Order: sequence, then structure tokens, then C-alpha cells
Amino acid sequence: SDRKPFIAGNWKMNNTIAESEELIQALLPLVGAVEDVDIVVAPPFLALQAIVDSARGSAVGVYAQNMAEKDAGACTGEVSGPMLAEIDVHGVILGHSERRQLFGETDRLLQLKVPKALEFGLIPILCVGETEEERERGDTERKLRHQVQEGLEKVPLERLHEVVVAYEPIWAIGTGLTATPEQAQDAVAFVRALVQGFDKEAGNRVRVLYGGSMKAENAADLLAQPDIDGGLIGGASLDAESFAAIVEAAR
Ligand code: G3H
Repeated sequence: SDRKPFIAGNWKMNNTIAESEELIQALLPLVGAVEDVDIVVAPPFLALQAIVDSARGSAVGVYAQNMAEKDAGACTGEVSGPMLAEIDVHGVILGHSERRQLFGETDRLLQLKVPKALEFGLIPILCVGETEEERERGDTERKLRHQVQEGLEKVPLERLHEVVVAYEPIWAIGTGLTATPEQAQDAVAFVRALVQGFDKEAGNRVRVLYGGSMKAENAADLLAQPDIDGGLIGGASLDAESFAAIVEAAR
């Protein structure tokens, strides 16, 4: 496809500032000059400024892991789009299943967050995916339809192609269980069709990622699928060599 591969490392709540610095310094010599893949790391908030500074001028983009739906105000503990844009963060992961499950984020909330990120020049990665129970009772497509349609509903159509969507089956996250390449392809193609439902051309251009126990050993098979444009990597992104091997598999 014409879509540029996109490999993102979600560090989750791992790495102090010092540890983040160590990881980026190990990563930059390996992937810092790669031009044919969009490479992203998402450190915890406190390390963002340091990692933005370290990665400046390299091919590695720096994303936040969450963002408030409001610009400012009485929202104790939240971080806003303008705050992220001010320090040159490039994008933000939104609606990760951990945010949805542990912190009660809803599709309604994501509907505000996704266009808000774009408003401040941040690329949103909207995360969607079904639980094991939903898959077993045949509700995967219904869940994805809901999450994609609500999450993208307020995005201006002319900017829809800028959004990245990550399909992450919850049963595959941090479990060592990976969706088969066929399962992942089917779900990712379904997500793309939903985006095409908003706008055909945007759906053709939008990058759709797979996430869930992606690692160097299984990345090539997943990335070979026609609709899978990249990966959202948790555990394996905490090791520079492993992450670099996944980037290599995407080239
Ligand atoms: O954001 C990343 C995903 O939750 C996948 O995490 O690679 O540790 O399974 P994982």
C-alpha cells in the first residue's frame, strides 16, 4: 500500500526520567535515522520533555499516553493538549484499553478527545478492541463498530486521514497471546471499512495498527497482512533491540 508503516512503543507506566533517557539513548543509534517507517515512543508524562529533547532531530516521534478533553480548568491531575503541544510532543495515544478499563474512559469521552488532539496539532492514536468474552460471544464487530464510529464521529472529514487507529484485542495485551495474523487482518480490515464509511479516501489513507503481544518473533507475519500498517507495542518496546527488530520487520 501507499501507507507509511507506523511502529509505536507504548512504555505505559514504566521508566523514570533516568530510565527513559537510558532507553532512548539505546534506541536512537538503532532507529534514529530510519526514514521509511514512522517511529514513535510514548513515555510517561514526566519523561516527555526529556525524551522530546533527546529525540529532537531524529526520526523518532514522541507521543503522550493520554490527554484531557478540555483545554484548561478544574481537572485535577489531568494534562491538556496545549501543555503537550507546548513541549513539542507530536501525538497522543487515546482510549487505550487500560484507560477504558481502569479509569472509566468511554466512547463518548473519546469522541471529544480525538478531535481535540488534532486541534492542537497532535496525531491521535485511537485504540479499540474487544475483550475475550466479547470475541467468544461473537460481538467483536459490534464492539469495534461502536468504538470506531463514536471515537471518530466529531473529527472533521478533511482531517480524518491523519488519525491512526490501533486494534488491540484486550485478550492479547500483555498476555503473550497474539491474535493470529488472520484474526488481526480481519479485525483491522473491518476497522478500515468503518473509516471508509465516513470517507472512502480517508479510510484508504488511515493507518491501522495491531497491538497485543507483538514482538520481534511475530511482527513480520502480522505486518505482512495487507491492512495492518504497523504496531502498538507495549512490553517489547521497553527493550531497545526488540523494538528496533520490530521496526526492521516493518521496512
Ligand atoms: O499499547 C500497547 C498494547 O497494550 C500492547 O501491549 O505489547 O505488552 O501486549 P503488549
